[in-house]
Amino acid sequence: MCGIMGYIGERAAIPVLLDGLSRLEYRGYDSAGVAVAHDGTVHVRKAAGKLSRLREILERDPVPGNVGIGHTRWATHGQPTDTNAHPHTDESGRFVVIHNGIIENFLPLREELASRGHRLSSDTDTELLAHLIEEEYRGDLVEATRRAVRRASGAYALVVLCAQEPHRIVAVRMISPLVVGFGQGEMLLASDIPALLPYTRDVLVVNDGELVVLTREGVQLESLEGGTVSRSRMHVTWTAEQAERGGFPHFMLKEIYEQPRALQETLMGRLDGDGPVVLEDVHLDAAFARALNKIWITGCGTAYHAGLVGRYLFERVLHLPTEADYAHELRYRDPLVRAGDLVVAISQSGETADTLAAARLCRSRGARVLAVTNVVGSTLSREADDVLYTRAGPEIAVASTKAYLTMLVGQVLLMLYLGSLRGNLRADRARQLVEELAVLPRKVQEILNHPAPVEALAREVADSEHVYFIGRGLDYAVAMEGSLKLKEISYVHSEAMPAGELKHGTLALVTPGTPVVVVLTQAHVYEKTVSGLQEVKARGARVVAVAYEDDPEIGKLADRVLRIPRTDDLLSPVLAAVPLQLLAYWVARERGHDIDQPRNLAKSVTVE
Ligand code: G6P
Repeated sequence: MCGIMGYIGERAAIPVLLDGLSRLEYRGYDSAGVAVAHDGTVHVRKAAGKLSRLREILERDPVPGNVGIGHTRWATHGQPTDTNAHPHTDESGRFVVIHNGIIENFLPLREELASRGHRLSSDTDTELLAHLIEEEYRGDLVEATRRAVRRASGAYALVVLCAQEPHRIVAVRMISPLVVGFGQGEMLLASDIPALLPYTRDVLVVNDGELVVLTREGVQLESLEGGTVSRSRMHVTWTAEQAERGGFPHFMLKEIYEQPRALQETLMGRLDGDGPVVLEDVHLDAAFARALNKIWITGCGTAYHAGLVGRYLFERVLHLPTEADYAHELRYRDPLVRAGDLVVAISQSGETADTLAAARLCRSRGARVLAVTNVVGSTLSREADDVLYTRAGPEIAVASTKAYLTMLVGQVLLMLYLGSLRGNLRADRARQLVEELAVLPRKVQEILNHPAPVEALAREVADSEHVYFIGRGLDYAVAMEGSLKLKEISYVHSEAMPAGELKHGTLALVTPGTPVVVVLTQAHVYEKTVSGLQEVKARGARVVAVAYEDDPEIGKLADRVLRIPRTDDLLSPVLAAVPLQLLAYWVARERGHDIDQPRNLAKSVTVE
C-alpha cells in the first residue's frame, strides 16, 4: 500500500527520507509528506501529488534535523489532498504519525474522539492514531503508543514521532510490513527493503504484533504486551530490482501472492456493523433499493469479467434483472437505461476512457452510478454517486490479479448490502455468506501454498497452440477471466465459452491433446457441465478440471485436477480464479515472455 521511511542518525534527515521514498515510488502513490524533529518541535511538510511537489515545498521551506519520518500515501480513507496526506498530528502538533493499512474501527473511534472534543482535521483513519496517542501520553511515548494501538483494530504499520522525545522513533507492525535497517551510527525504518538498500543491507523484519523503538544506537524490539523480543538481523543479497518485487521474480506473481492480504483489506471494517455490511462511500437507501428496476454492470477487460460474476450474484440473490456489458459496447448501443436503475461501473484504475464514457452516459439518463474501483480520487470515483473501493493496493503488473479478486468480493459485499436493504436476502443466508467471506483469504492462501500441480500442468500445456476454457454460470465467468489471463501474457490462443455452447461450433477445433480447462464448482449445473467435459474427452482433449478438493468424481473424469477448498457456490469464483492465474503465469514463464509488460497491452487504457 503506502510507503514508509524513517531515519535517525547524524545526517540531515530530509535527503535520506526523500531518497527512500523515491525508491518506493514504483508502488504508486498519490501524495507524500515528511516530519522532522528539531528544536523541540516536529515540523511537518506534505502535499498531494508526486514527490517533486514535496521537494519544491522543502526547497522553499527547508527543515533541518537528524530524526524524521516520511510517507507516500495511497489513499484508502479520504481523497488524495494536501490535508489527507501523511504525516498527521494531534491538535497540539506534538504527536506525529504516519501509517500504512486500515484502521478497522475507524467510524466508532472517530465518533468517540469527536465526542471528547478532539478536532479532526482530515478524513483519514491515520489521524485518529495521533489523537489516541495524545490521550494516552503520560510522559512515555512507547507506553502511549502501546495503549493507543490496543484501542485500534485493523491491519497497519504505524510510525510515531514525538516533540518531547526527539531521540527516538516508535513503530508498530500489525500485518502491514515494516523493516528496520542497521547503519553505522544511524538507524533506518521502511515499509519495504528497496528504500533501505543504499544505506544498509543488514535488516530486521518486524513481525506482527511487535513494537519497535529506534534510537541512533540501535533498535529495541518488544511485544505489544510489553515483553522484550529478540531476533537476529539478516543480510540482504537482493538487487534493488529484486527487492522491489519483494523477492518474487515478477510483480504478477507477487500480486497473486498478495491476494489473501488484499482480500482481508477489502473486507476490513465492512462485515461487523449492525447490518450485514458497512460500505462507507455507498449511500443507497431502502426506498431506492426497493424501487430498483434494473442493475447494469459495465467495465472493460478483467473488470468486465468481474462484472459477469456480479451479474449472476445480483440476479440470483437479489431477484433483479441485471445486465453486464462491455463499456465500449454499452455506450454506443443506446441502452434503455433510466432513472431508478443502478449502474455498477467497475474499473481498477478508475480512468479507463470507455468505462468513464459509459458511466457518464448512464448518469445523464438519470441512472445512479456506483463505482467499484481500486483508486481513491480517480475520475470514476469522483464522478460516481457512490463508490465501493476495492482496496487491493497498487497493482503494477499489466495482467490484473488482485484487483480482480477484490472486485469479486466488493460485489459480494454490494449484493449483501442491497439484499438487506431490499429485504429479499434472509438473515441466516446473509450470515452464512458473511462467515464464508471472512475465511476466503485463508482459503486463497491454501491454494497458493500448493502451486506444484499448476507448475507441472503449465509445463505440459506450454507448447499448445490453443486452449479452451468452459464452464456454466459463475464457472463460465471464471473461465472468461482464466482465458484472458492466459492469452494476454503467454500469447497462447485461448477461448472461453459456456460449456453448453461448445457443441455448436467450437468443438470442431478440439483435437487429440487440445487442453480444455473445465471449471466445475456449481452444484446445480454440475452434471450438465460434466456432459460438456465428456464431449471434449471423446475427441481426445487433455481435460483439466478446476474443482473442489472434496469432489469425489472428478479425478476419474479429468486428466488433471486443480483443487480448490470447498466454499459456498456463490463465492467459488474467488477461489477458482487463483489456479488459473497461476497457470497463465507459469505457462508464460515456460515460454519465456515478459510477464509484467506483455506486448501490445497497457495497464490503463485512457484512450477510446
Ligand atoms: C487494460 C488492462 C486490463 C484491465 C482493463 C480495464 O486493458 O490491461 O488488465 O482489465 O484495462 O482497466 P480498469 O483500470 O478499468 O479496470
